[in-house]
Amino acid sequence: LVGEFVRVETDPDHPAVAVVRIDRPKALNALNGQVTGEIAVAATRVAADASVRAVVLYGGERAFVAGADIKEMAELTHAQMLEYSRALQNALTSVARIPKPVVAAISGYALGGGCELALCADFRVAGEKARLGQPEIQLGVIPGAGGTQRLPRLVGPSRAKEMVFSGRHVRAEEALRIGLVDEVVPDAEVYSAGMAMAARYTDGPAVALAAAKEAVDRGLETDLDTGLEIERLQFSGLFATEDQKTGMRSFIEHGPGKATFQ
Ligand code: HXC
Repeated sequence: LVGEFVRVETDPDHPAVAVVRIDRPKALNALNGQVTGEIAVAATRVAADASVRAVVLYGGERAFVAGADIKEMAELTHAQMLEYSRALQNALTSVARIPKPVVAAISGYALGGGCELALCADFRVAGEKARLGQPEIQLGVIPGAGGTQRLPRLVGPSRAKEMVFSGRHVRAEEALRIGLVDEVVPDAEVYSAGMAMAARYTDGPAVALAAAKEAVDRGLETDLDTGLEIERLQFSGLFATEDQKTGMRSFIEHGPGKATFQ
């Protein structure tokens, strides 16, 4: 349990997958200051808990998250918004830095800050009727929680600009085509499909999975030479782990794909 609007739940069928459940249905899960703070706490908690091997972000059936809370933001001053957007960016970055596979299970709207939250997951599964987008331009502003940065890294600059300049909603089918989501399923199956996607990774090797995630994500933030250096250090670092001993020993003794990790 975390707070009033965000809970960390465990599914009895998949005890090693933590569900970060956002639950503020009256405002379609809009991210006010409290929700943002609770997301940051939830991210820190699932990151630190060794029994959690993968994570699903889920907002219920009607909406994943319909964005930052417009009613709360509308009258903020420039100075207040500097702090507000810093808090939201930091919360979403703490989701992006969870050193475990993270899946966003998107049913309904993932708009503005909601789309930006989904971009912080490693994978996105969406229901057929899901709508994703960065509608901020229609409010006279721009994405402020990573959308101008993470979206072009995922779908490329032209597609990201088209989405950000127009603010239009992208349907699930198109989102799949442009790589904004990875799988589209019937709406009623979003949660179970997200769970299944996350559960693929719960048998580890946890340290190598964390290293793989960090190498890819940090590498995307830097030049190729630095990225290769990050990879080399992560790769050789894994030779200090049980996972590497178990994995390679198992290959030599039993052949490929037979290792059982801790
Ligand atoms: C505050 C919101 C909200 C939001 C919905 N609600 N989105 N409140 N902030 N982002 C509230 C509505 O006001 C309404 O409250 C209730 O949730 C239900 O929403 P409806 O509009 O009645 O539902 P519907 O007609 O189905 O339309 C759904 C919708 C629409 C298409 C998602 O609500 C919408 O366009 N929402 C705003 C989406 C958006 O612009 N997001 C970007 C926000 S800016 P009441 O009390 O009337 O029942 C952003 C910036 C991030 O994210 C960076 C900040 C640093």
